[in-house]
Amino acid sequence: MFGILDKNTELTYRILLIICEIFGIISIILVSLFYAQGLYSNYYYDWNANPFSYHPVMMTTGLVFCFGNAILLYRTLKSTRKLIVKILHAGFLIISLTFALVGLVAIIRYKMSRSSIHFISFHSWLGLTTLILFFFQWIFGFVTFLFPKLSLKIRSAYMPTHRLWGRIIFVLAVVTVIAGLSEHGYGSSFFTTNDVEQKRRLIINFFGVFTALFGILVIYLVSTSDYQRPPDENVDK
Ligand code: HEM
Repeated sequence: MFGILDKNTELTYRILLIICEIFGIISIILVSLFYAQGLYSNYYYDWNANPFSYHPVMMTTGLVFCFGNAILLYRTLKSTRKLIVKILHAGFLIISLTFALVGLVAIIRYKMSRSSIHFISFHSWLGLTTLILFFFQWIFGFVTFLFPKLSLKIRSAYMPTHRLWGRIIFVLAVVTVIAGLSEHGYGSSFFTTNDVEQKRRLIINFFGVFTALFGILVIYLVSTSDYQRPPDENVDK
């Protein structure tokens, strides 16, 4: 695809990774601005008065940014020992899950404080599905590849499934974020024309775009065989 750079795949990977990280960091900065005090008149972060304020930022940091980076680790750290990368991969995913659980508690607290009905929207169903799949993917991966670590035959047989489902769950997380944005738009004064909302709408729409771009680049980098980690001599036997 990137013909000019094709001759040096490692360089191409590095350049695309930097672009991908820039998209991801812009996405995190933008989502942090949703409730930035002083930027708009009525918005601020408050765990007690408005726990919802933490929901978008926690979910995006955990299930998009950290998850995306966890997926790319094997390709990013090609010359690092496989066992170290495996531990880092599992660790990044624990960090993702921790952020996501804080985001989940935030939205549940918010809905309880307003006595609203839980799990009624498509976004919430998709979000719950993503979280459940993420949890099981982590457990299966941990047991198969790290501890107690199953036989080489089972590990090799399960690997393509693990890779496929990792990508599926990541895409689901990005789609959930986009669906959450629409949900948020319809549930707030987002679609009104006053100045405060115009500024906020710009931030929210750009956030959606950069999150999607980050997601697309992660999927591209993880699906291109040229960037794959070469098989180790002693493939963690
Ligand atoms: C992968 C990321 C995300 C996941 C897994 C997720 C998950 C959830 C879940 C499970 C609920 C339902 C809680 C309940 O009913 O008690 C919910 C609600 C909500 N989320 Fe998210 N969310 C994510 C990202 C976002 C983002 C980025 C926004 C953008 C502002 C957002 C906006 C909302 C809104 C407005 C609600 C309340 C309305 C509803 O129940 O759908 N979410 N989310």
